[in-house]
Amino acid sequence: MRCASPGVVLLALVSVTLSGCGGAKDAGEEKAATVSSTSTPSPGAVALPANLDQGPRAGESDYEEAKAKLGEALFKDKGCSACHAFGKRVTGPDLAGVSMRRTQAWMEQQILHPETMTKQDPISHQLFAQFALQMPNQGLTPEEARAVIEYFKHKDHEVGEGREAGKEKD
Ligand code: HEC
Repeated sequence: MRCASPGVVLLALVSVTLSGCGGAKDAGEEKAATVSSTSTPSPGAVALPANLDQGPRAGESDYEEAKAKLGEALFKDKGCSACHAFGKRVTGPDLAGVSMRRTQAWMEQQILHPETMTKQDPISHQLFAQFALQMPNQGLTPEEARAVIEYFKHKDHEVGEGREAGKEKD
């Protein structure tokens, strides 16, 4: 299992107190990676799937509770929370409602290949221009990325349910 790239770990350490990185079982491996690797893995030439932004939004489908829980932990452990929050802008976009504005496939690519997305995908490129910051590749596996997306869906469902409850009138 890989962890945040060194630059990101540094960034995260500077800006927030990173609450450990990954589960306890990976701690040694991750420390080694942080110390030994001097260059970020060259992401370069990933061919993005076509029509990433077409189809239903991720949050339109149900989420899996267990995966969402895992995703919540990953969101902190993989450094995402250093730049992202829900309901406010940090250095990256506010992720409240993100599953209602993006497709599953789009978010997967953004998480797995952010450096390619900002270059090739028009939406990601636009965000890059707006935030003047490249989201770093945090080295998640596709499965981890999907768990984080389940967490986003969970967050957005929560908000939706809250709204509905609030709307109730007699
Ligand atoms: C160093 C700051 C930083 C870190 C760490 C980071 N991001 Fe981002 N993220 C950004 C920025 C900036 C953008 C906008 C695109 C760009 O400029 O690269 C973005 C875009 C996104 C988007 C699209 C938001 C939208 O409105 O459509 C998602 C989803 C996302 N990030 C998820 C994650 C996840 C999950 C992690 C952790 C695995 C993560 N980010 C880590 C800065 C960060």
